[in-house]
Amino acid sequence: MTIGRLDANAVISEFPATRPDSCPFDPDRAYAELRANDPVSLVRCPAGMDAWLVSRYQDIREVLSDQRLSSRAAGSDHMLPSYEEHDPIPGFITQLDGEEHARLRRLLVGEFTVRRMEALRPYIQRITDEHIDAMLAGTGADLVRDFALPIPSMVICEMLGVPYADHEMFQLASEVLMSFDATDADRAEADHRLESYLGALIGQRLIEPRDDLLSRLIARGNGTDRPLAVGELATLAKLVLVAGHDSTANMIALSMLLLLENPDRTAALRADPSLIDAAVEELLRYLSVIQFGLIRYATEDVTVGDVEVKSGEWIIAATPSGNRDESMFPDPDALDFDRRGRRHLAFGFGAHACIGQQLARIEMRIALSTLLRRIPDLRLATPPKESDFKRNNIVYGLQKMRVTW
Ligand code: HEM
Repeated sequence: MTIGRLDANAVISEFPATRPDSCPFDPDRAYAELRANDPVSLVRCPAGMDAWLVSRYQDIREVLSDQRLSSRAAGSDHMLPSYEEHDPIPGFITQLDGEEHARLRRLLVGEFTVRRMEALRPYIQRITDEHIDAMLAGTGADLVRDFALPIPSMVICEMLGVPYADHEMFQLASEVLMSFDATDADRAEADHRLESYLGALIGQRLIEPRDDLLSRLIARGNGTDRPLAVGELATLAKLVLVAGHDSTANMIALSMLLLLENPDRTAALRADPSLIDAAVEELLRYLSVIQFGLIRYATEDVTVGDVEVKSGEWIIAATPSGNRDESMFPDPDALDFDRRGRRHLAFGFGAHACIGQQLARIEMRIALSTLLRRIPDLRLATPPKESDFKRNNIVYGLQKMRVTW
């Protein structure tokens, strides 16, 4: 047994963050080796902290459901070279623990039920068709700008009550917040811009409530013994706005690229459109776009696999590795729409599991199946360049994707 960092033989490696050039859809090849031989291994993160990297599926589920592990640096602060520990930020749902977290989650979950999301289907189908009509009026398009990004952006604007006319501002600010290449000053500026924008909208809803999520969050908060402060609500709304469009947009475009590179899988999907639900689950597993895993902090001593992690040490649940764990997914590097069940870790697991997962699923199913049906000869106009891949972002994806038909 390894005893925390006290083990003199502990080897500290660099955090594995390099995708193979030969396959931009696969995680770092080091994960396969780690799962086999060193499933809870010590790594040094770009943020400077050392962390226990957990690479096996079952261990990851245990980590993500362990209440003794804090989310104080989630989503991927371990990748941020300028990371500094700070007090919890009110409203920052992904980084809060215990009752502070549960209080915000209770306010949100009722908005994202399967029933509510299913009711959005006609709207999602209509905007998907409209964007395909607009693309078909020309001879080529950027699938990111003209399709993958606008659809989830419009849906989350509609839900929240944010004017879609402001999409350029919030998409650009989100992109800066998601990128590890942005400077600290740019990141702070983008953060401030989004929060003051949402703060102003919240101010309007306080005076004149509407039938939207912002107004309902105000009303629901007021119905509790701790109403939400405007700043707290602006931070929460910012996370919903950013998480609500960015990851799904990246999944739609990257999935399409993967499908175009796997014509046999695409043909199977066209021949049997009922495969779409299973295909979306498999694409989520295979692509694992939250590419650097989920970081946690031990507030007590815990045992993970064979390792005793000490209070005060960091742990990374390497979800991209867990999603390729051969003990859970036979032949894990194959894209196989016949896998059954939704056991992948793409939406996380446990107390912080993705609130928007049903929405993301419906958006992906409608966007991908409608695109395949309505543009059967869709193909790449030019292959993506190396610089088009978001290798240094919290969420993996494509900056642009030129297509034609
Ligand atoms: C394919 C698209 C998506 C992926 C891959 C994804 C992935 C994730 C993951 C892995 C987490 C867990 C983070 C952690 O444990 O530290 C998460 C949390 C979250 N997601 Fe998503 N997400 C997606 C779409 C969405 C959408 C459409 C929304 C809409 C609002 C959303 C809202 C959230 C929120 C609010 C949380 C925080 C939950 C909490 O801390 O309790 N996500 N997401």
